[in-house]
Amino acid sequence: MTKVLIDCDPGIDDAMALALAAGAPGLEIVAITTVGGNVDLSLTTANALALREFLGLGDVPVTAGSSGALLRRTVRAAAVHGESGLGGVVLPAPSLTVADGHAADRIIDTLRAAPGEITLVAIGPLTNIALAVLREPRVVEWARDLVIMGGSFTRGNHNPAAEFNILADPEAAQIVFGAGWTVKMLGLDVTLTATVTSGVLERMRPLGRLAELLVPAAQFYGEVTADGGPAIHDACAVAYVMDPSLVTQTPAVVNVETIGEFTRGMTVVDFRLRDRQPNALVATGLDVTRFWELVLGTYRELADRLG
Ligand code: RIB
Ligand code: CA
Repeated sequence: MTKVLIDCDPGIDDAMALALAAGAPGLEIVAITTVGGNVDLSLTTANALALREFLGLGDVPVTAGSSGALLRRTVRAAAVHGESGLGGVVLPAPSLTVADGHAADRIIDTLRAAPGEITLVAIGPLTNIALAVLREPRVVEWARDLVIMGGSFTRGNHNPAAEFNILADPEAAQIVFGAGWTVKMLGLDVTLTATVTSGVLERMRPLGRLAELLVPAAQFYGEVTADGGPAIHDACAVAYVMDPSLVTQTPAVVNVETIGEFTRGMTVVDFRLRDRQPNALVATGLDVTRFWELVLGTYRELADRLG
């Protein structure tokens, strides 16, 4: 069993990632932490609370973290995820509430209690992860792994240079990449290939209650066509934890641009190590066919549980 702590900003593809983790037989979600990102922290946290109960995650703690970036202005993506953050999807109101404390301390305490056992999966801006590192640098040793959806070595999405999660807090991202662990980076280069085509959507429709989330959320997230559709970026990070063989990776030295007028938030990925140690394994390929077989098979197992 692989234990994961998921830091997220739900967010439509965050919701799909949480559903994948909830259905994965080999994963145990030990905690969920939230960060401001796609929408405000109050909404990402409310969405995480609702998703926890909708996905049958019991009393997995949900702890709220940072509302905005360490420095400078806050970036949002409500235009992409809708004002609520879940497109037009309205989930049943949760009965359980948010845990006390800050996400950064939840991350520290959770990793301290189980050194070497828990994989951090960060699928939003990296503010909470950076704060945890600053407050307790030993989290780098305690974490079994750090897997992020973020960055790119070819292009941005929020602008030509920067991917949203990194752009939302470049200083935090640079702290995370410089903390001493080898970041498993799933960037747009591979996540943009994980698209919900009409064929995928048709395989989501028979999934009972889970389809009530997946189908309208995917349709809100982008135009679904026979050979294209919205990319479920964050689910790629969870799928990688489930089966790393889905992804081809290349060692690299990654730095984050924090100053450039046109390039702030860009992940500057150098595959030429020369005499340097890599600080990242960067995803350079995704087996999309096997990705969807894993994702849809896992969703089907979850749907059987949810009814
Ligand atoms: O660029 C894609 C990332 O930004 C995903 O995590 C999505 O949820 C948004 O936060
Ligand atoms: Ca996200």
